Amino acid sequence: MPKRKPEDLRSQRWLVPENAPGFSHRSRFKQVGYRKEDFTGKPVIAIVNTWSEINPCHYHLRERAEFVKRGVWQAGGFPVEIPAMPITEIYMKPSPMLYRNLLAMETEELLRSMPIDGAVLMGGCDKTTPGLLMGAISMNIPAIYLPAGPMLRGNWNGKALGSGTDARLLWTERCAGNITEEEWQGVENGIARSPGFCMTMGTASTMTALAEALGMTLPGASSIPAVDSNHPRMAITCGNRIVDMVWEDLKPSDILTRESFENAITVDMAIAGSTNAIIHLVALAGRRGIALDLELFDRISHRVPVLANIRPSGAFLMEDFFYAGGLRALMAQIRDLLNLDSRTVNGRILGENLDGAPIINKDVIRPRENPLAATGGTVILRGTLAPDGAVIKISASTARLLQHTGTAVVFKNYNDLEARIDDPNLPVTEDSVLVLQSAGPLGGPGMPEWGMLPIPKKLLDKGVRDLVRISDARMSGTAYGTCVLHVSPESHAGGPLALVQDGDRISLDVANRKLDLLISDQEFAARRARWTKPVSSFGRGYGALYLERVTQANLGCDFDFLSKSLATAEPEIH
Ligand code: FES
Repeated sequence: MPKRKPEDLRSQRWLVPENAPGFSHRSRFKQVGYRKEDFTGKPVIAIVNTWSEINPCHYHLRERAEFVKRGVWQAGGFPVEIPAMPITEIYMKPSPMLYRNLLAMETEELLRSMPIDGAVLMGGCDKTTPGLLMGAISMNIPAIYLPAGPMLRGNWNGKALGSGTDARLLWTERCAGNITEEEWQGVENGIARSPGFCMTMGTASTMTALAEALGMTLPGASSIPAVDSNHPRMAITCGNRIVDMVWEDLKPSDILTRESFENAITVDMAIAGSTNAIIHLVALAGRRGIALDLELFDRISHRVPVLANIRPSGAFLMEDFFYAGGLRALMAQIRDLLNLDSRTVNGRILGENLDGAPIINKDVIRPRENPLAATGGTVILRGTLAPDGAVIKISASTARLLQHTGTAVVFKNYNDLEARIDDPNLPVTEDSVLVLQSAGPLGGPGMPEWGMLPIPKKLLDKGVRDLVRISDARMSGTAYGTCVLHVSPESHAGGPLALVQDGDRISLDVANRKLDLLISDQEFAARRARWTKPVSSFGRGYGALYLERVTQANLGCDFDFLSKSLATAEPEIH
């Protein structure tokens, strides 16, 4: 039932008053061809669009925004498309993660500073989902998320290729001399065949699935392939629905609760989602004033089976996942593990949305009695090397390395790694532990996805394909290997990772959730006394703000001044 009347609409503060500002606002909508009746008394809907020609994942979103507009007009709203930072995972350096918070700030301020009553948020490429949602949560006006959808399966000589995952696998074989230049060109031509985000269970597919699990998308929206005609139909439906949400005054704060975040973590485990999801969920929850401690992820991981048979943990790709029934079918298998009373953007509770969602292909989405793995893919580690936590995705690791003690081979930063990793004299064996420093939120900066350190060539030549690798970096959700990530505090901030030296013994004990640097307390103290803070990489600009205010990985890498759940002030209009 509508709660609000036209005079309650936020936009009408700009558009109705018979004064100089009101005149100005109305005349400028008329300047671009709208009539007074088009926007008077109607919800003004921002279509926040991260389209860009340099973001191939969102290449279809400019055209797709027209379908959202159609839906908004149909439902009696007034759509305005607003471009927002198109964070592109592929091209932005040193790391697109540096800019997630900038998109969040931009989204919040776009919605706050202009006559907007509700928003359809269009994104999908990794950081755009959390960035858009963080901004919308802080602004807290009705908002609905429209995922860009995954691209089609890659194809190389009839073999289905997955973004990132297969590129890395095949690159490793190329480095080992097992793939020719001509074959490699075939891979390059065939791996990305359509608009849409990476179609493995990388960060994009993970975060859009979690947006659905949180209740911020319409049911079934997260895995529709970008070029499937279901996608424009979903866009129209989003346009329809957001207008009703404005009248109902259904805001993110009505949808996002501790229970809905627990649902998202549960789904993250069932899909063997990207480790990046931990950072983003902590940041998203922080915007609602909800603290998610890392052990909650581990506890939930213990009780949730992996059901999505999607690369890198499984065999299939997101197009297959959609045809197999999509996220609703997967969530229906774990109903008993979800908080079914959580509200969602369609106005119903999650349990209602899961009714009648069968699995179509039981190899792609495993039924509860035949999981891909009995428990979730993510483990939280602590110990003398990671007092504030570290993360490992065991579903993408080598089982025998999950209990391992080895000798450290340390790289001071990524340049050092690139310079020495393939040196024939590098003192590395298949029992070594590779350690990368200066790759965290401050050190990277922006915590780049460097956590899947390459295997040294001399080991590749011996057939070694995995090693224990430890860093304060993140890892792409499409990556794999026994990689300990997000070590907190990071080395740049003086965490114990900064104190590791070549030849140290390091113990990884996943069964007991431990990660320890095996040196004495006295040696720890002596090294700490000698440690000096590295020089920061930005002296000015956004980078300087980022370095000054970003929090560590275990706190979500949000800016400290944004991760407050205080109400955002409405602008004065004069
Ligand atoms: Fe955009 Fe992977 S590059 S989702």
